[in-house]
Amino acid sequence: MTTAPIRLHRPGSISLTALPPLSLYVHLPWCLRKCPYCDFNSHERSGALPEAAYVDALVADLEAALPRVWGRRVHSVFIGGGTPSLFSPDAVERLLTDVRARLPLEPGCEITLEANPGTFERERFHAFRAAGVTRLSVGVQSFDDAMLEAIGRVHDAGQARAAVAEAREAFDTFNIDLMYALPGQSVEQLAADLDTALGFAPPHLSIYHLTVEPNTAFANAPPDLPDADLASDMLDLIVQRTGANGLARYEVSAFARTGHRCGHNLNYWQFGDYLGIGAGAHSKLSFPDGIRRQVRWREPAMYMERAMAGGAVSNEHEVTAAQLPGEFMMNVLRLADGFDATLFAERSGLAPTVLDAPLQRALERGLMEPVVDADGRVQRWRPTVRGFDFLSDLQTLFL
Ligand SMILES: C[S@@+](CC[C@H](N)C(=O)[O-])C[C@H]1O[C@@H](n2cnc3c(N)ncnc32)[C@H](O)[C@@H]1O
Ligand code: SF4
Repeated sequence: MTTAPIRLHRPGSISLTALPPLSLYVHLPWCLRKCPYCDFNSHERSGALPEAAYVDALVADLEAALPRVWGRRVHSVFIGGGTPSLFSPDAVERLLTDVRARLPLEPGCEITLEANPGTFERERFHAFRAAGVTRLSVGVQSFDDAMLEAIGRVHDAGQARAAVAEAREAFDTFNIDLMYALPGQSVEQLAADLDTALGFAPPHLSIYHLTVEPNTAFANAPPDLPDADLASDMLDLIVQRTGANGLARYEVSAFARTGHRCGHNLNYWQFGDYLGIGAGAHSKLSFPDGIRRQVRWREPAMYMERAMAGGAVSNEHEVTAAQLPGEFMMNVLRLADGFDATLFAERSGLAPTVLDAPLQRALERGLMEPVVDADGRVQRWRPTVRGFDFLSDLQTLFL
């Protein structure tokens, strides 16, 4: 196979001295039913899934992408969706075997798979683990039947509890996804959801504020949602109860016990690299002289056809030097610990002085603070409590 050399150099473009850790994202785009709030690239399944053909397309996609990541090791893998647990363990095993044959995975590489309650039975979880998955992320959203119905989920509370119990039994580490500020939800109902979730002693919990996204069923017919004050009370309760149960809020929506942070998502938030394969997947890849973003064809049948022909990527462009400070900050400011003072230069290839003016404004407004060593040198920058509360205001300063 001959491949055109990748030339990225532009006069005055950036210069990276080291490449960041590389993660692999694999998108499986089908669900049993489309949820009314969801704007992810997910499609209602009609009939049997084209599992084998889709894995063929993923492997062809990966092969075509290899020249862009030659010689690099993969730090984490995330199989997301859609509803990846609709795929059989055999298909997941073939996928992971084919990935390992083409890309070196770091020893102990975290491999997460998203699973929805009601899409699997007990043996399936153990089989996913045997296939090489090391971490399960269970999309519970709520343990309350009325709430689940209000947000159009296919599963009920009993299936949600059964799924989490099975995840705990089959995996050393797992995540529960919840949402809050649901239609008609009270603080007491959220408290009950939290107590049920925390009763399973999850190593990791992700809790998202339900947002009404454009072009979703909820955008066309908006439900009655809690107002900003009520949602803020709910967030206070979430932070308080998770903290009391040993889960630290390390990112805006993510809470974990020591040693159980999601390495894959941390790499995104630390402005690391990721190769995304599968329908509609996004990539960010660094080279010594530039950073490129790619998007793959979104519609599954079109994606499979194009990927098999060696053309899975629908759009690719270089990130400009002007965009980099904003893109970096959109990610790192989501982290409670902020970022190491050397990280911006390392990941962007730009001079750290580019950040001086907006950092000064953030300091003056009490939205960020330095963490200094014994000699008074700045080791890290992190959002203050106020900065975390007004995160979009803080991020805007860097755009
Ligand atoms: C794309 S979903 C994939 C996981 C799985 N299909 C599921 O729904 O459980 C990832 C997570 O994003 C969150 N999510 C999706 N749409 C959202 C929205 N409009 N507002 C807030 N969170 C959302 C849900 O918590 C969901 O578990
Ligand atoms: S199951 Fe998950 S990915 Fe599928 S439609 Fe619902 S929220 Fe979206």
